[in-house]
Amino acid sequence: MTTPDAWRILHTARLNKGTAFTEAERERLGITGLLPDGVEGLDTQLLRMRAHLDAKPTALEKYIYLSELQDRNEHLFYSLLRSDLPAYMPLVYTPTVGEACQRFGHIMRRPKGLYISMRRKGRVAEILRNWPERDVRFIVVTDGERLLGLGDLGVCGMGIPVGKLALYTACAGVPPEACLPVVLDVGTNNESFLADPLYPGARHLRVAGDEYFDFVDEFVEAVQEVFPRACIQFEDFTNKTAIPLLERYRDRVCCFNDDIQGTASVAVAGLFGAARMMGSAMRDHRYLFFGAGSAAVGIADLICMQLMREGLPEGDARARCWFMNSKGLITSASPGLADYQQRYAHPFAGGSAATLIEAVRAVRPSVLIGVSTVAKAFNEEVIGEMASLNQRPVIFPYSNPTSRSECTAEEAIQWSGGRAIFASGSPFPPLHHQGRLFVPGQGNNVYIYPAVGLAVYATGARRVTDEMFLVAAEALAERVTEQDLDVGLIYPPMSGIVETSSFLAARVARLIVERGLATEPSAIDGVAHMEELIHRVQYDPHYPSMLG
Ligand code: NAI
Repeated sequence: MTTPDAWRILHTARLNKGTAFTEAERERLGITGLLPDGVEGLDTQLLRMRAHLDAKPTALEKYIYLSELQDRNEHLFYSLLRSDLPAYMPLVYTPTVGEACQRFGHIMRRPKGLYISMRRKGRVAEILRNWPERDVRFIVVTDGERLLGLGDLGVCGMGIPVGKLALYTACAGVPPEACLPVVLDVGTNNESFLADPLYPGARHLRVAGDEYFDFVDEFVEAVQEVFPRACIQFEDFTNKTAIPLLERYRDRVCCFNDDIQGTASVAVAGLFGAARMMGSAMRDHRYLFFGAGSAAVGIADLICMQLMREGLPEGDARARCWFMNSKGLITSASPGLADYQQRYAHPFAGGSAATLIEAVRAVRPSVLIGVSTVAKAFNEEVIGEMASLNQRPVIFPYSNPTSRSECTAEEAIQWSGGRAIFASGSPFPPLHHQGRLFVPGQGNNVYIYPAVGLAVYATGARRVTDEMFLVAAEALAERVTEQDLDVGLIYPPMSGIVETSSFLAARVARLIVERGLATEPSAIDGVAHMEELIHRVQYDPHYPSMLG
């Protein structure tokens, strides 16, 4: 007889196998006849899913389909992603997730995650307890104020925590039941959303100042109370709040900010690769950042940590990094600098350098990193100057999306006469220059945060430190082969992301144990066999038997 429980199994994404329930399982669960007679394997189900997806005309339609599949059959969703991550990642995360967030109120089906609005102030712990899982280990939280390069999307930013957490599971095997997406709904300043009858969030302007920070405080404290083993990942906050929030909590609770620390790690991994290509060390270089926001400061801080490991005193390490913002080169004479910019404001004898070309001539960098959102800022003159200063100029236009990139791969390669070492935030296709193949690398944070997350999960880490991101960067650079370097590629191919994530996670997990930050006894006792432990805790997207 079909019981409500049996019916629930068919309609619970985490338990449902659809047509893959075996004959014996159907009999045992009392669901015989609720499915067509044919018993199918995962491979057949995947064929059907791919056919459905192929029939969807746009990336957004495919996103919606995949989102519904996640609600219907979780194992099948992750099996599909795993079957071709380079193809499916752009559909569940960037760039499609950007459009999905912009249209979130219109395309919304079943809700995912937790929405915690200012109206619930004083009741945040109670709202967290409404989540059905008890052992939450990862919370990706946003306030929706700076969604990718798309501005304030308010509560529609939920797509970002949902997408990021899906990649934790798909790329590194963090179990999905351990993951909780959260939006802090503090209002929005997006006027078209406020006027849209389909906007699903609180209809008021953003709350700021003490009231805002008090609310985030309540959230962080409530997480400690309700999910004491959870790591909080802050995501897509503006730099006005991202940097102070990280400073406020990083030494008190298990948390990190991927826009700052994950970006830094993937950029430094690229710099390790570039240094390997040139046969140099990172201390041999001078770094100019075009853009002086949260991504820039995160990257510069991690570079300095590495330069200090390579023997430079802190002051000398900082002196290797120069920042430029919309007003020109930042120097010790620049007025109105934020605290985090002060440490990169150096004495400068040359008066002022208002434009990028003047800054390049003044600083004479060997590495130029773009984190400005200013498209085409690395023009022919700038790249030509970098190429005349350096045998192998390192050019990293990291701004996203593609339309904001400071230059394309083709421009960097062509204008440097094929000598640039290139990586970018957005993807660019392979190209030929003077008969040689170049494969541009994409400094995608997905190389880093799922792996660090898996290490935190496996060890029960009490804190997330910058050193973990540096070790992850080093490990990522080790995955680059000589063949990759031969075609100019300084990141490993995305097709091997699951193996790469496991490799990084084992390294980071070992560091966590060595630094005394692990709480999981199996990790502390099993530090010599970390690869095995990592493998053991990883989620496997195959169906478990329901006969046990
Ligand atoms: P942000 O808003 O904190 O910083 C932007 C900086 O650019 C500010 O310092 C601003 O003064 C500067 N800027 C703006 N116009 C300028 C101009 N005309 N000349 C010189 N500087 C100018 O933003 P955030 O978070 O630092 O991100 C910057 C870019 O980096 C974004 O496009 C973001 O998508 C990208 N990014 C890429 C990542 C990746 O690919 N792995 C990860 C994180 C960020």
